[in-house]
Amino acid sequence: MESDFKKYQAQTSPYPLGMEVSHAVGSYIYDTSNKKYLDFVAGVSACTLGHQHPRVNQAIKDQLDKYSHVMVYGEYSQSPAVEYCKLMASILPEPLNKTYLVNSGTEAIEGSLKLARRVTGRSQLISCHNAYHGNTMGSMSVMGFEERKQPFRPLLPDVDFITFNNEEDLKKITTKTAGILLETIQGGAGFIEPHNDFMKKVRQRCTDVGAMMILDEIQPGFGRTGKLFGFQNYDLVPDIVVMGKGMGGGMPVGAFTSSAEMMDLLSDNPKLGHITTFGGHPVIAAACLATLQELIETDLMQEALEKEKLFRSLLVHPLIEEIRGKGLMLAVMTKNADITNEVILRCQERGLILFWLLFEGCAIRITPPLTISESEIREGCTILKAVMDEVAQLQ
Ligand SMILES: Cc1ncc(COP(=O)(O)O)c(C=O)c1O
Repeated sequence: MESDFKKYQAQTSPYPLGMEVSHAVGSYIYDTSNKKYLDFVAGVSACTLGHQHPRVNQAIKDQLDKYSHVMVYGEYSQSPAVEYCKLMASILPEPLNKTYLVNSGTEAIEGSLKLARRVTGRSQLISCHNAYHGNTMGSMSVMGFEERKQPFRPLLPDVDFITFNNEEDLKKITTKTAGILLETIQGGAGFIEPHNDFMKKVRQRCTDVGAMMILDEIQPGFGRTGKLFGFQNYDLVPDIVVMGKGMGGGMPVGAFTSSAEMMDLLSDNPKLGHITTFGGHPVIAAACLATLQELIETDLMQEALEKEKLFRSLLVHPLIEEIRGKGLMLAVMTKNADITNEVILRCQERGLILFWLLFEGCAIRITPPLTISESEIREGCTILKAVMDEVAQLQ
């Protein structure tokens, strides 16, 4: 199968890990030789409730037995999508009460950028250096990593960048700015948290100049930082929240939420200001609803902070320089990218799945399912430290 994988399926890098997957349950993935791997990555923060969660699976099966795709987004009232948006409105602070459902994170970012322009009538978009917001042309335009976007230029005009956590740079947000887009914890950059009330200062500046504050919660979202969304840790309300990844419990989805007043501008003058065939798909929406209900009816979100403490207490090793991030969004930093590569590859051989971050070569990603147990955390950290002992010998 591996040769067919490389021969027929378009690749994203010259060196894919290439594991041949057989099945996955809970915190484990099994390959076709039935080797078991403990999953510390959760499909890159997507499998919030682990693999084959019974509640999510049941919701998908129940919905499949009723109806699947019947109409493009927004024409028919389909209860999984309606119920989902209603539940989201009841959880989020006012005025975040209307949600647009799409198919992926990057599509949700595109929608949010369009909304910011439509609301303000301005064109300038601001993002951060080292930010990642997706890979379609608009999202790539606000990606703060030149090397990966250069071959695809020209991208969107009128985009500017600031440095995350740099208050001086907030002066760049002016009455010409439609919106500033920020991750609440910078993911690809190395799980960088905001410091010194940075988020609140951005909020204030946006209010002062009438620019939209757009928060990309695609990675910190869905309980990973102890709250449903990262911004809920910083005592502020953005104008637009963008979500994806963990929202669908492993199913492909994205969404952006704003006030009804602003969101309604996308359906009028011009009408069809943002459209999608499969957004709000009933089977996907049913999986989203089951995931969200499970998160709010259990203690999984609060437990993420306890699990962070356990990781931090176990992961003490001479090769570990620092552990960044919050809750179950952690980046173990080593001295250099060679050490990080060696550790990740050797752990995979030993049955522990770890992964890289996009722009920070020294980081080892730890973003397990929120359902991971204490004993599984101990098991994985034991493997990781044994591998680090081996790699330390090579230095
Ligand atoms: C912060 C952030 N924004 C946007 C995206 C894009 O989401 P998707 O891959 O679903 O398009 C990602 C994906 O990694 C992300 O981490």
